[in-house]
Amino acid sequence: MAKMTVEDFNPKGKRVLVRCDFNVPLKDGKITDNERIVRSLPTIRYLLERGGRVILLSHLGRPKGKIVPEMSLRPVSAELSNLLGREVLFAEDCIGDKALDVISNLDTGDCCLLENLRFHKGETSGDDAFANSLASLGDVYVSEAFGTAHRPHASVYLAPMKMGGSYAGFLMMKEIEYLGSALHSPEHPYVVVLGGVKLETKIGVIDKLIEIADRILIGGALSYTFLKVKGFNIGNSVFDEEFVNEAENALSRADALKKQILLPVDHIVAESVEVKRGTYIDNIDIPDGLMGLDIGRETIEIYKQALRDANLVVWNGPMGYFENDAFFVGTREIARAIAETAGKKIVGGGDTVSAIKKAGLIDAFDHISTGGGASLEFLEGKELPGIIVIRDK
Ligand code: 3PG
Repeated sequence: MAKMTVEDFNPKGKRVLVRCDFNVPLKDGKITDNERIVRSLPTIRYLLERGGRVILLSHLGRPKGKIVPEMSLRPVSAELSNLLGREVLFAEDCIGDKALDVISNLDTGDCCLLENLRFHKGETSGDDAFANSLASLGDVYVSEAFGTAHRPHASVYLAPMKMGGSYAGFLMMKEIEYLGSALHSPEHPYVVVLGGVKLETKIGVIDKLIEIADRILIGGALSYTFLKVKGFNIGNSVFDEEFVNEAENALSRADALKKQILLPVDHIVAESVEVKRGTYIDNIDIPDGLMGLDIGRETIEIYKQALRDANLVVWNGPMGYFENDAFFVGTREIARAIAETAGKKIVGGGDTVSAIKKAGLIDAFDHISTGGGASLEFLEGKELPGIIVIRDK
């Protein structure tokens, strides 16, 4: 269903609430990666240039309904001021008098940011009164926080619902367009690459995409649960006991659908993640006492071959413990192989994006999703509250 966007209303003079995802990493009060802020700038600029009174909303971290000074959005307002080249006012609360004071002083084409929504527990609990307070601050609501679209929180769903629905920002639209094409109108051959640690967050994606994609390549910690299910020895590698049945089902569904789920055939192993060098194991089985931390050279070759003719690649999750250079090769080589494919390349998940940055390949990808959990739930085919709430065209 086509959605309404910021281009479908006239922001002139209106108080436009824009729910962004400025959940950025901070160290000693400094933003270490401003990507999520930068990606929302086109929407903010668009609204300011057309005379909107722009009120930005976001969460940061998980303060659990308490004021946690280290999770204040103040550094984000400073960063926004720098990036926009104009002052972005900051309100020390996201509802009540402190918010109203700042908002009432906004002229057309002015912008402010309100303090962390999650300092109020009504945000995550989806509290009605809190949602009413948010909704009363503006005339129009814009949904730009794709990274949080899977959370049924007050500012994601309830407040915009109370205002008759929201309009999608440009970043939100791009996410829906790219991830939607991977779900509803994929080009073939369609190859999905999954890695990382938590099988819990990926099993639903495997289940859904096995029907749609041509092959799924699995690496990283995820792969060892599958290998164990297939009867191989995985030594001390990560094993997700809770998801054994799901892993078995995924493998048998793939067989029934005549789709390929590829698993590593060799590994780089070590006794712990901190070592300076791993050991190559030219075998699927991993000896006791050792853990698999990267895919081996033969696996890399097989995966490269499986990617060669791809017209669409969706990638989420590194192939190994890439933070340590000793286990970065598999992820780097797969990133290179994906970058060389001719078709569309979509990537999601914070770790995967860091790995691509480390490989210096960020520009080779067509779409870098700002959502980790949200992009996975979207690809599972779930309806996300933050997207349902956007007005249909
Ligand atoms: C994210 O960083 O994935 C989003 O901002 C959502 O954060 P959350 O997992 O704390 O809801």
